[in-house]
Amino acid sequence: MGIETIGVIGAGQMGNGIAQVAAVAGLRVTMVDVKQEFVDRGMATIRKSLAKMVEKQKMTAADQAAALGRIGTATDLSGAEGWDMAIEAAVENETVKKDLFRELDQKCRPGAILATNTSSISITAIGAATRRPESVIGMHFMNPVPLMTLVEVIRGHATSGATAAAVVDLAKTMGKTPLEANDSPGFVANRILLPMINEAIFALHEGVATKESIDGIMKLGMNHPMGPLALADFIGLDTCLSILQVLHDGFNDSKYRPCPLLKKMVAAGHLGKKTGQGFYHY
Ligand code: CAA
Ligand code: NAD
Repeated sequence: MGIETIGVIGAGQMGNGIAQVAAVAGLRVTMVDVKQEFVDRGMATIRKSLAKMVEKQKMTAADQAAALGRIGTATDLSGAEGWDMAIEAAVENETVKKDLFRELDQKCRPGAILATNTSSISITAIGAATRRPESVIGMHFMNPVPLMTLVEVIRGHATSGATAAAVVDLAKTMGKTPLEANDSPGFVANRILLPMINEAIFALHEGVATKESIDGIMKLGMNHPMGPLALADFIGLDTCLSILQVLHDGFNDSKYRPCPLLKKMVAAGHLGKKTGQGFYHY
């Protein structure tokens, strides 16, 4: 059976990006968040992103209108029985994700695939919260979703080959390049990226250089599109801290310990671009 209708859970920066690329690819999408204002903010971001693509002549105005027409919104999972698949992109918190997957398992029809966009949390553990672990999988998009081509595909211990094949096909339909990784804390992308970001925060914390120097050195010296501190702000400092905690707990290795400065900034509510204040002011 083909995947034509999906639910995207979470309308934050990742959820709205996933909803956008799915709708552009021709799928009917319902984007869900806990409050109408969050869903409205996600829709506003999608409109802005599609308008930019029309302005840059990467899309026609007719395709923009058709894509927008394929996106509906909701503030609960009551429509989930009509979906062929759900892609969860709520906060990076294992309890929240397990609760959501339990509810999705109850509401979605048998056979519907339940994917998570988690950055680091065990797909096996999320799958075990459901009665269909064979249909639970990691479908890890990169930020910003409309521009980044990678989708990291992660099978849990019980994920079936048919589920993985369907998700690989779907990623290609969305214009992305799927690459598989095994279920291990942080998978590949964040096992390698987050220790670099954490080290940059330690360098700032210890006064090795200013934030501008740290970011400039990595941009000019390594040809990275963004410095690690700007990238941390872009990802969200709460998400960075959650990923590092999963790595630290998962490997039980002190090399992944989150920098105290990162913990302090999250405690202060300075979460980066999404709150207007992180290492930089927005
Ligand atoms: N929608 C549509 N178009 C967009 C857009 C969006 N959301 N954002 C930017 N654009 C367009 C711009 O209009 C611009 O178009 P033109 O080239 O035609 O002018 C183009 O995309 C490039 O944008 P900018 O000029 O604003 O900026 P840039 O050249 O610096 O590129 C970037 C922006 C792609 C974000 C780049 O800085 C970059 O690649 N940064 C690193 C991103 C990265 O590492 N992502 C991974 C994060 S980690 C992760 O995702 C995993 C995890 O679990 C945490
Ligand atoms: P975000 O903070 O921008 O958005 C999260 C959204 O989830 C919020 O709007 C919140 O209201 C909503 N939410 C929370 N609980 C919910 C629930 N029970 N039901 C529905 N919605 C709920 O976060 P984000 O950056 O979009 O990250 C979302 C997920 O994607 C996380 O698991 C994160 O690790 C992962 N991810 C993030 C990035 C990134 O660069 N930020 C990249 C790849 C993957």
